[in-house]
Amino acid sequence: MTRTAHDSTVLPKVQSVAELIDEGARAFERAGLAFGHGTGNATDEAAALVFHALDLDHAEAESAYALRPDAGDIERVRALFDERIRRRVPAAYLMGRMWFAGLEFEVDERVIVPRSPFAELIAAEFEPWIDPGHVERILDVGTGSGCIAIACALALPKARVDAVDVSADALEVARRNVAKHGVGDRVRLLRGDVFDAVGEARYDLIVANPPYVSDAEMAALPPEYGHEPDLALRAGADGLDVVRRILAGASRHLTPQGVLIVEVGDSDVRVEEAFPRLPFVWLEFEHGGGGVFLLLRTDLED
Ligand SMILES: C[S@@+](CC[C@H](N)C(=O)[O-])C[C@H]1O[C@@H](n2cnc3c(N)ncnc32)[C@H](O)[C@@H]1O
Repeated sequence: MTRTAHDSTVLPKVQSVAELIDEGARAFERAGLAFGHGTGNATDEAAALVFHALDLDHAEAESAYALRPDAGDIERVRALFDERIRRRVPAAYLMGRMWFAGLEFEVDERVIVPRSPFAELIAAEFEPWIDPGHVERILDVGTGSGCIAIACALALPKARVDAVDVSADALEVARRNVAKHGVGDRVRLLRGDVFDAVGEARYDLIVANPPYVSDAEMAALPPEYGHEPDLALRAGADGLDVVRRILAGASRHLTPQGVLIVEVGDSDVRVEEAFPRLPFVWLEFEHGGGGVFLLLRTDLED
């Protein structure tokens, strides 16, 4: 019999959901997995898979931990643990879903797993940076699963959102999520490169989580990232290929009081070096994450 990294044939009996989660977390740590695709550590990753496989409700987590899984439950969960370890595939893709800004999104390997710190800005309705009551039009550049665009539409019910992606595959996933959240009347999906698909339109708010990983950084990423589309992560020698184009075109697509917010992750230092005259405001987050800058329309040159 072939023994996998997480060999069910030599594992002890588990008495509760909590023990099953613990078993997965220890196996994930032993296997040296990488996290950060919607969950931040081995225990959260194992819990996500257990709750998914056993159809448990995260809102009832405390009572769920004490439940006794039967043999079939344990087998299903261990099969997922095995696959997580063997293929190094993030749990979100095994589940076909991930939560972002308190909402569930369908995901598969055509889009990255939603995890942007934008969720925190959306929960605050972008205050104090904008007046949420006066936002009529939002543009999301590089929408992927549509998570940021859809969460914005739900948080700001008067706003209409254009969501652009260059990837037809990603837009297929976004389309499913737009339908799932019933926002098809206010979220418009457009295929195009950065601003190409929006014509002369101007927006009160432009948000973007574009690709921003340099070629050298790509080569060093853990195998989990290899399941995400290269197009969603890689952005040239310094990681700024798409960010540069956003900065070059944003002023033509912002209203006079408009605001641009862009996630650039660890490329923040390179952004500052490349654009020394722009007065970037780097936003702070209570729940982790960073590398997100804000600029006003008035900060940007025509
Ligand atoms: C980092 S992902 C972000 C996806 C989603 N907004 C999120 O936060 O989960 C970047 C997205 O930008 C798209 N993209 C890459 N280059 C682009 C370009 N030149 N114009 C528009 N979209 C682009 C990719 O296809 C990908 O879906």
